[in-house]
Amino acid sequence: MTDIPVTASPVTDVYQRPLRDLRISVTDRCNFRCTYCMPEEIFGEKYKFLPHPEILTYEEITRLTRIIVRLGAVKLRLTGGEPLMRRDIEQLIQGLAQLDGVHDIAMTTNAFFLPQKAHALREAGLQRITVSLDSLDDATFRKINGNRSSVEQVLTGIKSAQEAGFDPIKINAVVQRGVNEDQIVELARFCRDEGLILRLIEYMDVGTMNGWRMDQVVPAQEMVERIDAAFPLKPVARNYQSETALRFEYADGQGEVGMIASVTQPFCGACSRMRLSPQGGMYTCLFATEGIDLKTPLRDGATDDELEAIIRGTWQKRTDAYSEQRTSATTDRKKVEMYFIGG
Ligand code: GTP
Ligand code: 5AD
Ligand code: SF4
Ligand code: SF4
Repeated sequence: MTDIPVTASPVTDVYQRPLRDLRISVTDRCNFRCTYCMPEEIFGEKYKFLPHPEILTYEEITRLTRIIVRLGAVKLRLTGGEPLMRRDIEQLIQGLAQLDGVHDIAMTTNAFFLPQKAHALREAGLQRITVSLDSLDDATFRKINGNRSSVEQVLTGIKSAQEAGFDPIKINAVVQRGVNEDQIVELARFCRDEGLILRLIEYMDVGTMNGWRMDQVVPAQEMVERIDAAFPLKPVARNYQSETALRFEYADGQGEVGMIASVTQPFCGACSRMRLSPQGGMYTCLFATEGIDLKTPLRDGATDDELEAIIRGTWQKRTDAYSEQRTSATTDRKKVEMYFIGG
């Protein structure tokens, strides 16, 4: 997708930022235990995930999405937890793909189930896939994901997505100082060779459980320098104003790479992203403390117009700009967890 159409007149917030993207977390469950997201010590066998009746049904998600599209959203992204943990997710995609006004439907996944699922997702109308892969070194990757998967399994998943016709496919890698920073150039080389778009993500202080420290962040500038030394880069403009990534093309014409510099070069100024949690909470920022409950009115019989009024009113009051205001005081405050609200 290169352009966001500007047909609808979207609702805008206090800083005139339109609502353009909806990121839907379809489950709080995941089969991985990434140390920075669902650490094993906390998410052990006894951990109680949301009971099924608390989670929005596909009909409920589709209804809310229809309303949010009316308010201006044109891009949808399914996340989790791991979205492919939710049974028959392709049925949800099929419903969402039929909504008038939706121009882009993407999914962020750990790729574990893609060998079984990629074709069905494509047929249902999913347009783009982003795969999380933090390292090509198996020992490092296993250490990061709580020993739940191998690099090979993820590469098989990526191959399935390619065979199903997804193009381009993006690879998200969260870079942590001293953990996988040695993988920056390796990942770039691999993605260039395979025709994948690499997105290197600065490690962020999302949630409250990963014990984030600034010295664990590898600044995007440094990542660019490391890749540029191996494969010369030239900066190119963002595809659209609210894009998260700073984009670079390889000077030899072999594709592009992006940096998501949420810590060192925040992009709140154009942030048009709304998030929906698995049990129907509306979040206006990845770092929000609390969501607005949409499930209760939805299940209590609210009309579409009433739900629209709640969402519109919440967005119109929005002042979030967490990454631009980050201080040591804010990193310690209560925040929604990443496994709950997706990336
Ligand atoms: P495209 O639609 O392909 O441009 O994807 P995207 O920019 O929505 O990217 P994606 O969903 O892959 O997000 C990549 C990563 O950027 C996420 O996993 C998060 O770590 C981070 N990210 C995404 N949205 C936000 C945001 O609104 N704020 C911050 N601080 N980080 C974000
Ligand atoms: N910082 C940056 N990115 C993160 N993700 C999860 N936790 C963090 C964090 N603390 C990314 C995952 C995945 C997406 C869902 O969010 O790697 O690509
Ligand atoms: Fe699962 Fe993704 Fe969180 Fe890892 S980062 S535990 S794959 S939701
Ligand atoms: Fe948007 Fe909040 Fe991320 Fe800033 S920190 S870009 S306001 S989600």
